[in-house]
Amino acid sequence: MPAAHAATAAVTGTSVLTQISYLIAAALFVVSLKWLSAPPTARRGVLAGEIGMLLAVAGTLLLPEIQAFHWILLTFFVGAAVGIPIAVLMPMTAVPQRTALSHSFGGLAVGLVGTAKYYLWLQHEPERLTHFVMGVLAFETILGYLTFTGSLMAFGKLQGILPTRPIVYRGQNFVNFGLLGVAIVSSVYLNLHPSELRLFPVLIALSLAFGTLLIIPIGGADMPTVISLLNSYAGLSASAMGFVLDNKLLIIAGALDGSSGFILSVIMCRAMNRSFTNVLFGAFGAVQARATGPQEERTVRSAQPDEAASILASAQSVVIVPGYGMAVAQAQHKVRELYDQLTRRGVEVTFGIHPVAGRMPGHMNVLLAEADIPYDRLKEMEDVNSELPHTDVALVIGANDVTNPAARTDKSSPIYGMPIIDVDRARTVMVIKRSMGAGFAGIENELYYMDKTLMLFGDAKAFVGDMVKAISSEGH
Ligand code: TAP
Repeated sequence: MPAAHAATAAVTGTSVLTQISYLIAAALFVVSLKWLSAPPTARRGVLAGEIGMLLAVAGTLLLPEIQAFHWILLTFFVGAAVGIPIAVLMPMTAVPQRTALSHSFGGLAVGLVGTAKYYLWLQHEPERLTHFVMGVLAFETILGYLTFTGSLMAFGKLQGILPTRPIVYRGQNFVNFGLLGVAIVSSVYLNLHPSELRLFPVLIALSLAFGTLLIIPIGGADMPTVISLLNSYAGLSASAMGFVLDNKLLIIAGALDGSSGFILSVIMCRAMNRSFTNVLFGAFGAVQARATGPQEERTVRSAQPDEAASILASAQSVVIVPGYGMAVAQAQHKVRELYDQLTRRGVEVTFGIHPVAGRMPGHMNVLLAEADIPYDRLKEMEDVNSELPHTDVALVIGANDVTNPAARTDKSSPIYGMPIIDVDRARTVMVIKRSMGAGFAGIENELYYMDKTLMLFGDAKAFVGDMVKAISSEGH
């Protein structure tokens, strides 16, 4: 008997340790999200999240039902062998597709756990498959597998493995929702007859197909919003898994993930002045490509690096507006050199950051922070817009849509209503880009034809580098 008592005490002891570690982990996840929302505390937020995850894993490994560790150790090493190189080698511009890939693994894990639990319980403990558990299992399985294939499609589009343009055909939404409808009907049937084990693979296949078909009609550039939405699905499915496994931390972490992903998607849609339905079903990109017809010849004014450098060096105030092109060119370090040169000459330089400049939230902030540009020089759109009418030069580096005045003036424009950075209100505008080509929305930018605008044609990194050389060598 004393041995049995000792065993029970040990089990209770480890359960308490698990609960304590879960509690601390849950608190760390919450503060991590809070800290991640502001760049000065973001690193601390990442650390808090990492410690929280470590505690969550350690607490779970302490659970008495975990008897053997060899499989866990093996998967740990396999995961580390894949994850570490991805984290170290993947460039900053590839973060959206990296995130998509990890969501797809998360979705697959949730789907597989749901599948395993269904078959295990059906065989050994069928009484556990109550209506509630079956409902949650079906929800988790559908979301898990659709997140898996959907995120893989998003990864493929962003990585250029799949065509980035929307793949559309007649009756597409009907087919997609038909599939989802059949999946839901199957899950209801399974709920009423859990022993219909042949229906479960059908549910899996439908979910995998729905995830694929839901994403292919969405244009590559909309993928960041879609990824954030899939993130919220992955969170919801993990939360559902928490109910199935009776794991409170999983419920909390999944709910945090689900709600934060959803809020982020809403923020992105608002900043683009687009609705969820427009992003998911609007085939943005295909429509624009068709709308672009033959263009009339119009002229623009352009300048060489030394002329542009001279204008910048003689200005009193310069607002730099970076965009996707700065990220593509990886020009941030040259931009830092330009900032140094100009501030040394007494020019007041600030950066105007649009919330959806680039292709992921905070894209510009991350790049400029990487180049050690002082954080207090970065101004949000509203703040910089009030300064632009008194600014000598607005220098646009690889941004297009986020500076397009059509968003303010042209009701027929697809970006009408999207808040923009009002560079056209500065005294002089200079735009660095390689051609007259359109940006993400696929539309012309009237800004380039204004009398006050100078086009600086070239790759952002090379052009800014040449301006830096011109300023330093000519001692402007
Ligand atoms: P865009 O409108 O996409 O314009 C980028 C411009 O950069 C292009 O016109 C391109 O012109 C130029 N460019 C590309 N490579 C370059 C290089 N190497 N050197 C110099 N210029 C280069 O970018 P934006 O103004 O940042 O706006 C972002 C767009 O993405 C918005 O429409 C937004 O709604 C959308 N979006 C953003 C997000 C997030 S969360 N950020 C998510 C989804 C969608 P050239 O080809 O002529 O060089």
